[in-house]
Parts: sequence; structure tokens; C-alpha cells
Amino acid sequence: MGMIIARIRGKEYRFLTAPGVFSWRRVDKGTHLLAETAPFDRVESVMDLGCGYGVLGIVAAREMGEGRVVMTDINPRAVWLARKNVELNGVEDVVEVRRGDLYEPVEGESFDLIVSNPPVREGLEIVSKIIEEAPGHLEDDGELWLVVRRKMGAERVLKLMEETFGSAEVAARGAGYWVLRAPG
Ligand SMILES: C[S@@+](CC[C@H](N)C(=O)[O-])C[C@H]1O[C@@H](n2cnc3c(N)ncnc32)[C@H](O)[C@@H]1O
Repeated sequence: MGMIIARIRGKEYRFLTAPGVFSWRRVDKGTHLLAETAPFDRVESVMDLGCGYGVLGIVAAREMGEGRVVMTDINPRAVWLARKNVELNGVEDVVEVRRGDLYEPVEGESFDLIVSNPPVREGLEIVSKIIEEAPGHLEDDGELWLVVRRKMGAERVLKLMEETFGSAEVAARGAGYWVLRAPG
């Protein structure tokens, strides 16, 4: 087990982490860039797909103030840690953590914003599914924001987003990562 203290958008966060979850020793640089740049302050509902120990959804909840955040992950350990971190950061009134595959835990639900640092290492097929099934879970004018390491296929992911959404753009770049945005 470990405890990470991170400063994001000028606020301090504490994250309980453990081996067996993504980037357990420190907040991933891509995750940090997405957390700093996603438009949490102008939305009312957010899905954090593949939440790990919970950085994106918890930052979303603090930035939104009011609203609804659903965080999901397939890994039970990640879900357990994310639930602890929701309590640790005092956002339990806003956030729900659910275990399951991709959009299965949010069947029939839509959000203003879907954010994800997708499991690129597991193959492009899973990233394609995240993109192709996103419109079915976005409100009108909803947006999908992903972060991908440039050398891990960010350009290819941008193309997939363009194919599904009609347009997409690089919203931010830093530390070798691209934050990609597609309008709903
Ligand atoms: C790159 S990590 C990002 C974790 C966290 N969002 C962060 O930024 O620290 C991708 C996450 O996706 C989860 N994941 C992998 N396959 C999944 C699936 N089919 N459905 C839901 N989550 C999945 C992994 O367990 C992992 O926590």
C-alpha cells in the first residue's frame, strides 16, 4: 500500500494506492495532464472509464462542486481503492464507483463528459470500443476526452475519434502525451 499526495488545479489530493493497479507509485503524467485540462467546471455529469485508483473522477467531483460522477473499472482492486479514495477526498456525495467491463456498468445512462486514460497496452481494439460506444453514453453536446502517449498511438486514436465523431482535436500536449477531445 502507498499514499500519494498530488496537487492538481491548485488543490491537494490524497490517493491510497497499491501494487497491481496502474501507476501506483505516482500519478501518471498523462492522467495529470488530462485532470488539469478537462472541462470539469462546465459540466454536470462525468464518467471516468477505467478509473484505476480514482484520480480523474475525484478531481472532476471537486471541480464540479455539484453533479454526478460515475467511475468504473474492471479490476476489483482498483474499484476498492477508488472507493476508499472517494471517501478520503470527501466526494462521496457526488461519486459512485462501479465494477465492470467498459460501458456495461452504465447501461442506459448518459453523461456530459466521458474521460479516460484508456488501457492502450491491452490493444487498440479496446480503445476503439471505448470510442465507438461513447456516443451512446453522451448527452447532446457531450464530449469524449482521452489521454494517450504520443508514441503509444495517439495519432491513430485521434483518427478513430474523427471517424466516429466527425471531428476531433488535440486539446493539450505535454510530457509526451496528447489529450484528445471529440465533441458529441
Ligand atoms: C491506463 S489505466 C488508467 C487508470 C486511471 N484512470 C489513471 O489514470 O490512473 C487503464 C485502466 O483501465 C482499466 N481497464 C482495463 N480494461 C478495462 C475494461 N474492459 N473495462 C473497464 N476498465 C478497464 C484498467 O484496470 C486500468 O485501471
